[in-house]
Amino acid sequence: MDWVKEGRRRIKYPIFSRFLASFLLLTTQINDAVVSSSESGFVFNGFDGAALRLNGGGAIESNGLLQLTNFTKNEVGHAFCPTPFVFVNSSSGEPFSFSTSFVFAIFPQYEDISSHGIAFAIAPSTNLTAVLPSQHLGLFNFTNNGDPSNHIVAVELDTIQNREFDDINDNHVGIDVNSLISTSSAPASFFLDSSGLQYENLSLISGEPMRVWAEYDGKTMVLNVTLAPLFHPKPERPLLSSKLNLSSIVLDNMYVGFAASTGAAAGSHYILGWSFSMNGKATELDLSQLPSLPPRETEDTDTGKKTQLWIILLPTVIFILLLIASFGIVHLVKTKKKFAEEMEDWETEYGPHRFSYKELYRATKGFRDENLLGNGGFGGVYKGQLPKSKLEIAVKRISHDSRQGMKEFVAEIASIGRLRHRNLVQLLGYCRRRGELLLVYDYMPNSSLEKYIFDRPQKSLNWSQRFKIIRGIASGLLYLHEEWEQVVIHRDIKASNVLLDAEFNGKLGDFGLARLHDRGSNLQTTRVVGTLGYLAPELSRSGKSTTCSDVFGFGAFLLEVACGKRPIELKISGIETVLVDWVMECLKKGDILEARDRKLGTDFSAEELEMVLRLGLMCSHPSPAARPCMRQVVKCFEGEVPLPEISEEDFYVFDSSSRRNRVLVGGSSQNSCTAPTNLSSSFSDSPLSRRN
Ligand SMILES: *[C@@H]1O[C@H](CO)[C@@H](O)[C@H](O)[C@H]1NC(C)=O
Ligand SMILES: *[C@@H]1O[C@H](CO)[C@@H](O)[C@H](O)[C@H]1NC(C)=O
Ligand SMILES: *[C@@H]1O[C@H](CO)[C@@H](O)[C@H](O)[C@H]1NC(C)=O
Ligand SMILES: *[C@@H]1O[C@H](CO)[C@@H](O)[C@H](O)[C@H]1NC(C)=O
Ligand SMILES: *[C@@H]1O[C@H](CO)[C@@H](O)[C@H](O)[C@H]1NC(C)=O
Ligand SMILES: *[C@@H]1O[C@H](CO)[C@@H](O)[C@H](O)[C@H]1NC(C)=O
Ligand SMILES: *[C@@H]1O[C@H](CO)[C@@H](O)[C@H](O)[C@H]1NC(C)=O
Repeated sequence: MDWVKEGRRRIKYPIFSRFLASFLLLTTQINDAVVSSSESGFVFNGFDGAALRLNGGGAIESNGLLQLTNFTKNEVGHAFCPTPFVFVNSSSGEPFSFSTSFVFAIFPQYEDISSHGIAFAIAPSTNLTAVLPSQHLGLFNFTNNGDPSNHIVAVELDTIQNREFDDINDNHVGIDVNSLISTSSAPASFFLDSSGLQYENLSLISGEPMRVWAEYDGKTMVLNVTLAPLFHPKPERPLLSSKLNLSSIVLDNMYVGFAASTGAAAGSHYILGWSFSMNGKATELDLSQLPSLPPRETEDTDTGKKTQLWIILLPTVIFILLLIASFGIVHLVKTKKKFAEEMEDWETEYGPHRFSYKELYRATKGFRDENLLGNGGFGGVYKGQLPKSKLEIAVKRISHDSRQGMKEFVAEIASIGRLRHRNLVQLLGYCRRRGELLLVYDYMPNSSLEKYIFDRPQKSLNWSQRFKIIRGIASGLLYLHEEWEQVVIHRDIKASNVLLDAEFNGKLGDFGLARLHDRGSNLQTTRVVGTLGYLAPELSRSGKSTTCSDVFGFGAFLLEVACGKRPIELKISGIETVLVDWVMECLKKGDILEARDRKLGTDFSAEELEMVLRLGLMCSHPSPAARPCMRQVVKCFEGEVPLPEISEEDFYVFDSSSRRNRVLVGGSSQNSCTAPTNLSSSFSDSPLSRRN
């Protein structure tokens, strides 16, 4: 792409361009004063001294480059023009036309993992404080996404595919109206002719500056969006041309600006120049005046000097190289063996999710004992830091010797990597070696919830912290069961699989892993996998995990968090206490709160605690059909539906000697989750099954 290279060279005259930029700013500021008239606008060829309203990662660098995020994870950045524009023609009630053009660049810090995107936004306020980073792009949050009262119109440059928002791929341009589900979108590209037959693809995260035009005609109600490399002339045919009646969406006074966000991986989002015009064509940017981007690690800055040096140094270097080479070969053979991985053809499909073993080895300082975070049921977990991105990760090593089923499992891992929810531990990728699978997760600084609940914890969590974690896990599990494109069964829900981030938000980890364990064991026998006390009774009969058996595990989790006890505790006397039976006893005695964790002291909400205990009992119902489903649980927590009554007769005959021998008396199925008989047999084979 010749025009890109030419561009790089041309924007290397900072002094001249800065002078021109400040001259232009003068005219801009004059324009700012009159934005409320029907024809108005501004142009920023660089943002030196521009009075934008910035927040989050938003900052203007000394050379006039506008930075929206700066290599920080889960960051939001905003930059808005401080004066609102009138968007509606008061005499006709129709929306006005507008036009904007801007130049952006996205630098992902870590080449394999991109970091969300940028959106040009028209919003009723510049105070977007209740918004979320990651897939919400700093524009919306979980509750207001899709809400018509948002009055937000945006053009998104999105670099991650979020299935829940029907994203077409991980490199697209979309038009968003009040929602992250775009009204129309297209892969990042530009047309070479007006017929639309010839086009060229672009990569948004290439770090190359690109230009965007967004033009709206208030009469025909068409919004055109066009994308092109920086020095390419504006393509004749827009990438997106979408009929859009903005009259009920825009308010009279609206602000224009940008939002950007990063997620589990950091990145940097830049705007180099921006022009906007109301009822007119946006002034073309003067590309020669745009500020230059910071150098990227891979860039050769001064090729000329380097060539000269090489001529002098070459003979010496060749000699040294030969010397090193002879030692090197010996070393290489050794190293190669050490870092050997297994890679098969089918794995190229999962490219971005695959890490090299060497990288993980470096990141964890060679899997040193000091980096060992713990030993889970599947193998050691190591803390690490990716050398280039400084991204903190947790690497789980799972020894695994069955080749059979590996392909399917890796396919699932890649799928799971696409799950994105604030209450799920983000899986970043994997690596495979002989007899070993390594899974790479986002690092959770406060480790597992178990540490804060059982036995004599060093730090105990108070009720409001526990309740927040419970609600979070419920919403994460609801996402796995019902809100993603496929049904995902966790299979091993318990306090030790709930991890805590820096703010003590609960995140569910290790989904689907129970199955790998299953596969690793011999032959086709369905071995029941999970943890005693969290295993639904029907599992020992059918061996089939279902969403209902997950709900059972969730019930045990509710009780352990509220009571501070494990589901089954062995006393020194050898007698085991079964937590659910004990809570049931308290309920019968008429004082369910008696069962609570004494470490909570007196600072708790009796109402919430009782709800959690009662829901815990309901989810622990021996009959899968009588358990509520996660949506009902979440609705109870949100107070949308009242807590159903537990009737003891309908529950079960109390028998503390053995959990399995409970006699089921009733078994109403009025508000049940899907009964296992309705599920296809593939359910037992895969944690990911198509929802139909
Ligand atoms: C991000 O910005 C802050 C202040 O603006 C600066 O101190 C910090 O070094 C920046 N971080 C990176 C990684 O560039
Ligand atoms: C606003 O609406 C009036 C009445 O329909 C029309 O005459 C006028 O041209 C419109 N103004 C603009 C800027 O479109
Ligand atoms: C921005 O909104 C938050 C709540 O969403 C509010 O607390 C804050 O005062 C607002 N700030 C301004 C400047 O309006
Ligand atoms: C989501 O955003 C809306 C509007 O900005 C705000 O009223 C609401 O409280 C936010 N919700 C959450 C959960 O932050
Ligand atoms: C653009 O990329 C898509 C896949 O993302 C590919 O199918 C198509 O052939 C590419 N087109 C060109 C012209 O390179
Ligand atoms: C949008 O694109 C269409 C098709 O190329 C064109 O006819 C129309 O004039 C454009 N509208 C604007 C506002 O640029
Ligand atoms: C646009 O929407 C408004 C209100 O929703 C409606 O009154 C108007 O007729 C619509 N205009 C067109 C051209 O569809």
